[in-house]
Amino acid sequence: MSQKDKIRQLIDLRVKAKQGGGEARVEAQHNKGKHTARERIEILLDEGSFEEYDMFVTHRAHDFGLENEQYLGDGVITGHGTIDGRIVFVYAQDFTIFGGSLSETHAKKICKIMDQAMRVGAPVIGINDSGGARIQEGVRSLAGYAEIFQRNIMASGVIPQISAIFGPCAGGAVYSPALTDLIIMSDQTSYMFVTGPKVTKTVTGEVISTEELGGAKVHATKSGVCHFVADDEEEGLLLIRKLISYFPQNNLEDPITTECKDPIDRLEDSLNEIIPENSNQPYDVKDVIFGIVDSAEFLEVHRDFAKNIVVGFAKFNGSPVGIVANQPIHLAGVLDINASRKAARFVRMCDAFNIPVVTLVDVPGFLPGSAQEYGGIIIHGAKLMFAYGEATVPKVTITLRKSYGGAHDVMSSKQLRGDMNYAWPSAEIAVMGPKGAIEILEGKNIAGFTSEEEAKKYSDMKEDEYREKFATPYEAAKYGYIDDIIEPRNTRFRIIRALQTLSTKKEMNPPKKHPNIPL
Ligand code: HXC
Repeated sequence: MSQKDKIRQLIDLRVKAKQGGGEARVEAQHNKGKHTARERIEILLDEGSFEEYDMFVTHRAHDFGLENEQYLGDGVITGHGTIDGRIVFVYAQDFTIFGGSLSETHAKKICKIMDQAMRVGAPVIGINDSGGARIQEGVRSLAGYAEIFQRNIMASGVIPQISAIFGPCAGGAVYSPALTDLIIMSDQTSYMFVTGPKVTKTVTGEVISTEELGGAKVHATKSGVCHFVADDEEEGLLLIRKLISYFPQNNLEDPITTECKDPIDRLEDSLNEIIPENSNQPYDVKDVIFGIVDSAEFLEVHRDFAKNIVVGFAKFNGSPVGIVANQPIHLAGVLDINASRKAARFVRMCDAFNIPVVTLVDVPGFLPGSAQEYGGIIIHGAKLMFAYGEATVPKVTITLRKSYGGAHDVMSSKQLRGDMNYAWPSAEIAVMGPKGAIEILEGKNIAGFTSEEEAKKYSDMKEDEYREKFATPYEAAKYGYIDDIIEPRNTRFRIIRALQTLSTKKEMNPPKKHPNIPL
């Protein structure tokens, strides 16, 4: 073959590889409202930045006539490219080739880019769209999955790992995304479950659709497996680009600071008015968040799960932070099992990637009741406490209103190494709320009244007394548990100054193999 022919051959092979499973299958993919793996990568990465690895890899299976069916790339496109100029590694399963199913070689391709990403310290983005283990390859395929899982585990907390689910993701295949930092699912075109509707029916008799069992909305609202639902794939891919902007490349770097056009000393007058006179009235804590962060930009994570706590990314003076805030408009902002799990995972993710945590506190306590106790609120609440207590990133806490009981300690209190703990004048920091406290302290006296009216008058008076003395920030400030009481409208500036001061913070936990977090 002449040199010219050799080059021609290379070009032809590249064209062939790019055809995936062929025109008909590509069309079928489009008809389902889905993009091909290559189209997805094109949307995800900076234009022209993608460099593909292993385009010529094919499977080595011989059973079920597979030896006669070969596709270049073997059902997964892998490589690296850039997002806003920063290197990321990517794999995208190609459903048009054997349904994106995972063979030994398919797994090896994914492992190769994961290893490379670990060597250079860059994020990995996985786009999943697969019929699972390649049935014809049997146990080699299972081993391939386990190779990926092990790498997900080793990469956890070292490089950011983001998973998009844009099609089927079933059986053990769900565990790779589950081991990564964030999961995005496309609405109506993706699902995740360990066992599908058919097996569910056989084993338990339950009849349930694919969407109801493992669709995006279910995982975004009920299980919390999925952090974001995207209306379509394009939205999901652009979201990944945005997410990457809040992360450093790896755990040894800091997140990138960008130019901030919002004045750092901007006074947000509305915050002086946001807390209702009656402390049992709710308000939307997201209004506080929008009021203080740069340009009112807040990327909420887990928006539809455990709405009584809000978590997400924002910037202060151009530097990324993670925000955790109790949400009074949902369950009065109480901490329950799901809220604790959600916030604990978020705080740990921020800490792993050197993203400071800003906490806005308005928490009446933990949710009482047998459902919570039987469900292990003790352990789950401890997770959040653990996450805050072990975090060494800068931690700035603002108590907006209620901060009662154990929940006060949990929510980034001074004693859990909160670096700067501020409170608004509306803060109520005490063992419990006035009503509960007076019932316990004055119960006998109240019961002694023969007239109901007299009893109420007495308990109201005692509640007022308690409120005056304990339901304020000044008791906590007196002991130095609160560093300063600040005017609400000045909160943005105070947070920015605190974060600047803390930017050189160095704190180390004692050496250990790993902590034994209450899982
Ligand atoms: C090999 C597969 C495949 C698989 C799909 N295909 N899944 N080939 N191994 N696991 C092939 C099909 O033969 C078909 O080939 C093409 O992909 C598209 O599949 P369709 O069925 O035509 O597509 P669709 O109707 O959209 O259905 C998609 C699907 C279905 C729901 C994913 O294919 C399916 O149920 N597949 C099997 C899923 C499964 O049970 N996997 C194993 C799970 S256990 P042609 O040539 O016609 O295009 C598992 C364990 C992992 O994954 C354990 C890890 C620890």
